[in-house]
Amino acid sequence: MTIHIGAKPGDIAETVLMPGDPLRAKWAAETFLDAPELVNEVRGMLGFTGTWRGNRVTIQGSGMGMPSLSIYANELIREYGAKTLIRVGSCGAMQEKIALRDVVLAMTATSISTPSVGILRDLNFAPAADYGLLAAAHAAAARRDVATHVGGIYSADVFYDERPDLNEQMTRHGVLAVEMEAAELYILAARYGVRALAVLTVSDHLVTEAPPLTSQEREQSFGDMIEIALEAAFA
Ligand code: ADE
Repeated sequence: MTIHIGAKPGDIAETVLMPGDPLRAKWAAETFLDAPELVNEVRGMLGFTGTWRGNRVTIQGSGMGMPSLSIYANELIREYGAKTLIRVGSCGAMQEKIALRDVVLAMTATSISTPSVGILRDLNFAPAADYGLLAAAHAAAARRDVATHVGGIYSADVFYDERPDLNEQMTRHGVLAVEMEAAELYILAARYGVRALAVLTVSDHLVTEAPPLTSQEREQSFGDMIEIALEAAFA
């Protein structure tokens, strides 16, 4: 047991999918895994371990934002021996060519700050996905009927950011989408020598301001993401 995860040693698989929302973790485990077992419910941040095509997988909620994800990813890697961590979540599109429901595979993650800033200090570290996972996820997405974009994303510290031209600068520099967790996940993966990737679906649009997805549409696209992540993890 760790401070934030109640699982016993051995209860957590080497491959962990991390949705932000713990109820999504429950839905994904019950929908995609065989024999899912609840392994964590500390603070309601649910985690389940089961198998997918015979491979052990844990699906553990990360909470929203890098400080929360950092707690779970640190404990999963350092205390439970997780070796492959895939964030599955939503993002806001920052390019016109991207539509709601499209999949974004985050090759890199720009940030203004992360929980690792105290360690990295003035180093402009470039958080990047594991290339093998990224290539396998791209292949898995290509097998499905879903438009997929690969490139840089932005991991924000603040959802309701009021800086006047921040989003425009991201768009201008080709950033595909904004979310709030991947940069710290990639930094931790680099620090501890494990694999990480963020597979995202577009739930809202910052450029076209198209109406955000309904909860039913979110569920469908969330299912696509889980399958892409599982296929990539065990490719
Ligand atoms: N996740 C989904 N949409 C987002 C947005 N617009 N900003 C930050 N994180 C998000």
